[in-house]
Amino acid sequence: MDKSTQPTSRRGFLGKLTKAGLLGAAAVSPVARAAAAVAEPAPAPAAFAFQCPPYLQHPTPNSMTVMWLSNNPSYSWVEYGETDQLGQKAFHVENGIADSYNTLHKVVLTGLKPGTTYYYTVKSKEITDFQPYKLTYGETIGSEVYSFKTPAEKPDTVSWVVLNDIHDRPASIPHLISLNKDFFDFVFLNGDMFDYQQDEKQIIDHLLLPAGQSFASRAPFIFTRGNHETRGKYRRELGNYFHGDYYWAKAWGPVHFTVLDTGEDKPDDHPVYAGIVDFDNYRTQQAEWFKTVVKTPEFKKAKFRVVMMHIPHYYSGDWHGPMHCRELFGPLFEEHKIDLFIAGHTHRYGIHQPVAGQHSYPIVIGGGPKEGNRTLIKVRATDKQLDLVMLKDDGSHAGKVELKSRR
Ligand SMILES: [Fe+2]
Repeated sequence: MDKSTQPTSRRGFLGKLTKAGLLGAAAVSPVARAAAAVAEPAPAPAAFAFQCPPYLQHPTPNSMTVMWLSNNPSYSWVEYGETDQLGQKAFHVENGIADSYNTLHKVVLTGLKPGTTYYYTVKSKEITDFQPYKLTYGETIGSEVYSFKTPAEKPDTVSWVVLNDIHDRPASIPHLISLNKDFFDFVFLNGDMFDYQQDEKQIIDHLLLPAGQSFASRAPFIFTRGNHETRGKYRRELGNYFHGDYYWAKAWGPVHFTVLDTGEDKPDDHPVYAGIVDFDNYRTQQAEWFKTVVKTPEFKKAKFRVVMMHIPHYYSGDWHGPMHCRELFGPLFEEHKIDLFIAGHTHRYGIHQPVAGQHSYPIVIGGGPKEGNRTLIKVRATDKQLDLVMLKDDGSHAGKVELKSRR
């Protein structure tokens, strides 16, 4: 039985058992009471259903990852094709075993054509009983047919929008996305989508559902952590719900993206972390990795070098996290001439123009979770020009950046 339905059903059953026992306590023997309680039927299990619409991950010119959740264990697959007649089927196999009897589904569609529209639907076939030599299927359910477009091999432009610091306010996701009326290639989630990681239900209700309902079945999102996502008992499982690393680099059209995972804001030995974090080493490891990124032809040749990470290394106070980021990354960003930096974390939106001796590139910081302080950052780049607009949650403009390529 599924994780999310099991506790409720079991609690319901136990609740009835206890009530039956109490009501009959005066007149009925313990054996008869137990028999009566056992005879009472358990609540019907939840009808087999999806827990969220499919959401797209990890876009490349030749592949797209489709993820979704069902409420009960199932065997699941994607049907897809270049028309809404679909015609092809993909499922995930590892070491000869097809993914099955699971609820979190991840299928990578490979061999796709660049710059091409694909249609797809996801299907899950419930497995109601899994004996070693006898498997029993239940109902098969399917999503509606969605479409997406793969990135071109060498696109002339790239467009993306950035959300940050949603902090467990799921209604903010469709609201902010709806402010954008233009095409975008992907949504970048720049950390602190949650206050801390509690369980799977939180990830579904506060991210996957609102994202799926507003855009993620048709355009991918890419997520990196904020400091809040490193907290809570479900923090280690969070990465299972996405396809990709928390820090990465890649070129997409005229832009080279570097995304860093800035970790916690307080020192690793702070009592609230109870000795179970190691972010100084993790940040240092990323700085060493970035030194290899800057040597790649993709970085060197890019028309624009963009860095995105949750905690900004300026305008974010003097706590350990921001200062360690400044010490490690600041000199590298200067030396290797990044063009634009986008962060969140402070809950104070702003566009900070270059300051001699500190940062030679604009630092854009998205807003915080409360109404009136939320932002959507929109960016579009061509070979010649990069345009960034920051929108406030009432749709008005909070600022912009216009850059000409220096290469
Ligand atoms: Fe933060």
